[in-house]
Amino acid sequence: MNNFEYISGSLFCEDVDLLAVANEYGTPAYVYSKDAIIKNAKSYVDSFTNSTSLACFAVKSLSNLSILKIINDSGCGFDIVSGGELQRVLSVGADPQKIIFSGVGKSKEEIKEAIKNKILSFNVESVSELYKIENIAKELDAIASISIRINPDIDSGGHDYITTGRKGDKFGISSTEDILSLCKHASSSSNLKLVGLACHIGSQIMSLDGYEKSANKVFELADKLLELGISLEFLDMGGGLGVSYEDENPPSPKELIALLENKFLERNERLILEPGRSISANTGVLLTKVEFIKENFLIVDAAMNDLLRPALYKAVHTISNLKGDQKNLKRWNVVGPVCESSDFLGKNVELEAVEGDILAIRNVGAYGFVMASNYNSRLRPCEILIDGDKTKIVRKRESMDDLLALERFTDD
Ligand SMILES: Cc1ncc(COP(=O)(O)O)c(C=O)c1O
Repeated sequence: MNNFEYISGSLFCEDVDLLAVANEYGTPAYVYSKDAIIKNAKSYVDSFTNSTSLACFAVKSLSNLSILKIINDSGCGFDIVSGGELQRVLSVGADPQKIIFSGVGKSKEEIKEAIKNKILSFNVESVSELYKIENIAKELDAIASISIRINPDIDSGGHDYITTGRKGDKFGISSTEDILSLCKHASSSSNLKLVGLACHIGSQIMSLDGYEKSANKVFELADKLLELGISLEFLDMGGGLGVSYEDENPPSPKELIALLENKFLERNERLILEPGRSISANTGVLLTKVEFIKENFLIVDAAMNDLLRPALYKAVHTISNLKGDQKNLKRWNVVGPVCESSDFLGKNVELEAVEGDILAIRNVGAYGFVMASNYNSRLRPCEILIDGDKTKIVRKRESMDDLLALERFTDD
């Protein structure tokens, strides 16, 4: 069941009428369903048949503390890409042995903190990074657990900006020679422990082919390492599973896991995944009010600073009027107040709407609020979590004081 449904002509999230939420908390506002978050996290956790398999939720897709706590309680680990994300997951009680640290540009401070907290593994993305982690571990008189992220040269399809596993993309290490020599070095180092190989080929992936191909590449390398006497604890096949924004039909987490666990049957390594969007996307909507109507424009109070995906990737999100029973449908461009022509939230959207109506931009749980900014000195929206008939603010709307708080005059 979808957690956002029309009941008697009004759009509800779980048992709560979204119009009442907009009236009480204002717009723009991100609204999430707790039940959807649990169901999506469990769609990974409960699909594993091997108890050693692990899903590390990609925090970059949705990082609100209350939501991370729910995901942690559902049995997922976390894939992080910064010191800030490390702080977030530690503060919700994540087990450090379920934390993977990805990203091509980890700073010294970030590496230190992660080593001190004994995370499960760094996904090392370059030759230099491996030596940097080793030196920092030496300074701390510690052992850092690492995996090598390989670049398998596989095109996952989809938008250029979210394809990460082709030769020439900045992610992972392409050269088999480099990978093998790094693994040899790491296995003889007193400050490194080589625990795995990783790969992540992109996002919004609509077919399992890419996973099959990347698993084969990772297995090939793992076998070469076994021949050198180096065995690994896990193989991390990344995230990237697509979701339905309009009427797409991506494979389910269960299908992905069945494919991979079947391929892992003959192997001793455990399977790790790093899903983001497929857990977070359909858990949230962005509520926004129609301020003005001009020609075929619905000018709303949310903008590209609140939801960047349409401007950044030309991403398409279904947009619905909270009032159902639409009869006089017209085609609109839904745009925000930001002074850019790229500031649109939907183009050619079929809706009935009048000024003052509240719209819901659907499936914005992933890469929604996390990409919000203060561009045009706009205040970032609040985040609200619905649990049955209960409504909780899980991040306050920013205030004018928040906006100005960090700035100083030169003579202060
Ligand atoms: C290293 C890594 N892992 C996991 C993810 C999550 O991807 P998705 O949200 O598409 O599942 C990303 C996002 O691009 C990523 O860069």
